[in-house]
Amino acid sequence: MTIHVVDHPLVHHKLSLIRDRKTPGSLFRALIEEAGLILATEATRTLPTESVVVETPLERTGTQRLRSLDPVLVPVLRAGLGLLPPFLQLLPTAKVGHLGLYRDHDSLVPVPYYRNFPPLLEARPVFILDPMLATGGSASEAVRQLKGAGAISLTLVALLAAPEGLERLQGDHPDLTIWVGAVDRQLNEKGYILPGLGDAGDRLFGTA
Ligand code: PRP
Ligand code: URA
Repeated sequence: MTIHVVDHPLVHHKLSLIRDRKTPGSLFRALIEEAGLILATEATRTLPTESVVVETPLERTGTQRLRSLDPVLVPVLRAGLGLLPPFLQLLPTAKVGHLGLYRDHDSLVPVPYYRNFPPLLEARPVFILDPMLATGGSASEAVRQLKGAGAISLTLVALLAAPEGLERLQGDHPDLTIWVGAVDRQLNEKGYILPGLGDAGDRLFGTA
């Protein structure tokens, strides 16, 4: 498994505000989008390109374009929806799949409740979007479902990860690529990331 930690001053700065319990929901959402733009820029740096020739207003020139079929973005509901706008801003022709998962409060096992994937997954780079990688159960289930539907090139994009979740994914999906804003210290007894940012879905959507 390949893990990239986006060690960037803007990510550190935005994370300091995102983590702050006093940050209101509207600003929290905006900051997740801003950090998501940086994550999207980094996570797409290996997308294959091809040479094309264009006419500028002045002359013909060789240049590069994305080669593969449009990528697929799969936000894991709900919190993954917070990362969708920045990815769509940079990849406006991407197809979007949705996967609904919630963690059972007691067992922490992910419960699937919705799934809608676009066709041709096997031919497209697939980006799973979820700001939080805690136990790794939800991400592992998302990768399992997408592989089952044919996806081959899979990248998980998260804002925060716990070491326990990374270890779980290393065991379950060693072929996965992960881009993450920061790796935090540990999980607490309820499966929350420490120091973390709290419940991402609740803070994004005001349901705390
Ligand atoms: C959160 C988060 C991840 C999951 C991570 O979702 O968005 O999907 O928990 O935890 P895990 O790594 O231990 O599986 P949650 O289940 O709270 O649902 P929500 O986004 O609808 O709030
Ligand atoms: N999901 C969250 O939203 N936050 C955590 O810390 C862990 C799982």
